[in-house]
Amino acid sequence: MRIASLKAYEILDSRGNPTLRVKCFLEDGTVGIANVPSGASKGKNEALEIRDGGNRFFGKGVLKAVRNVEDEISKALVGKNALDQWLIDKTLINIDGTPNKSRLGANAILGVSLAVAHAPPTYLRIPLYRYIGGISARILPVPMLNFINGGWHADNNLDIQEFMIVPKGFERFRDRIRCAVEIFQTLKDILKEKGLSVSLGDEGGFAPNLSSNKEALDLLMMATERAGYKVGEEVFFALDCASSSFFDEERGIYRFEGKELNGKDLMDIYADYIKNYPIISIEDPFAEGDYDSWREFTSKFGDRITIVGDDLYTTNKKLIREGIEGGYSNAVLIKLNQIGTLSETLEAIEITKSAGWKAIISHRSGETEDTTIADLAVGTNAGWIKTGSVARSERTAKYNRLIEIEEEMGI
Ligand code: PGA
Ligand code: ZN
Repeated sequence: MRIASLKAYEILDSRGNPTLRVKCFLEDGTVGIANVPSGASKGKNEALEIRDGGNRFFGKGVLKAVRNVEDEISKALVGKNALDQWLIDKTLINIDGTPNKSRLGANAILGVSLAVAHAPPTYLRIPLYRYIGGISARILPVPMLNFINGGWHADNNLDIQEFMIVPKGFERFRDRIRCAVEIFQTLKDILKEKGLSVSLGDEGGFAPNLSSNKEALDLLMMATERAGYKVGEEVFFALDCASSSFFDEERGIYRFEGKELNGKDLMDIYADYIKNYPIISIEDPFAEGDYDSWREFTSKFGDRITIVGDDLYTTNKKLIREGIEGGYSNAVLIKLNQIGTLSETLEAIEITKSAGWKAIISHRSGETEDTTIADLAVGTNAGWIKTGSVARSERTAKYNRLIEIEEEMGI
């Protein structure tokens, strides 16, 4: 299964920005294909996607990354066995030579890493999840669906970036999704009745202007109950605060609902949410450097809810290890393009799980029709996936792939 050539294309993501598609051709003609996603609310330590600058696409073109794939990376990988994923990813890391993949670009590197990963299962005519997880791959994840979008993902007044529903009380993935869809359509009716906007944010959730962040939770409650589901039994809620986006770094304060808050004040607000709503998970409740708040919040609430580090860890094993040592959280959001290769992502998942923490496989706000993360979630038995709402094809593509996998598995 030797790599014969690599080809890259400048395609578009769901926000209309350029991104990469990479094809990995094996010597017998088999092709592995992957597209690269792109975030908006990024962690400081993320691997760096490179953009061209200049006038084309207002500087966002990725032709340099395309060239890097077809020239330098191709030279290093052609002739290598596509089954040697670790060796290939190591080679990519070494030839780049920077700690954050900024020379060749994390977008070029991830595109190649994933295109290579798709080639052997295609050759073997087995699904990607089976290639990643072997016969132990069996768990369909519980989806965390972002139904109300705020923060930098929407043009509204909500500080919290994601208000999610978690249909946890169902055996089958298909029933989790059906429940989610029924709540989503009911939420749309409720928003219309209230004269609120039903336009969608970047991740396919609604993006209305509301009087407070709490009103978003009230709307999720109403929609869940009106759709006929039991709140706190079948359906739970989750938040991604993405709090770095409302943190004033210079002054060390959070700007939340028009007020200036410290970590303690913000913690009181979260405590109030947890008391009044069936919240089972809060992601990035505090900014990346605010370790004291993270630690205190986890020691107070970590036995009741999942506390997820996204920007805090950026899928980086060194930072995850520090978090485990320091007791900052009890879960990690896993994003392939934050670290830049499949092998490093698998390692991050392993380290997270071996601490007894949850690993939540995640999309980015800028996505494509690529469904690799659905297979990654099943292949690693992660148990959780966060991939937006049940509208917009770049989001439903992942859910549709999981529906297909469940059918294939005969469960
Ligand atoms: P991003 O958002 O892809 O814009 O970073 C997703 C998240 O914060 O989880
Ligand atoms: Zn996040």
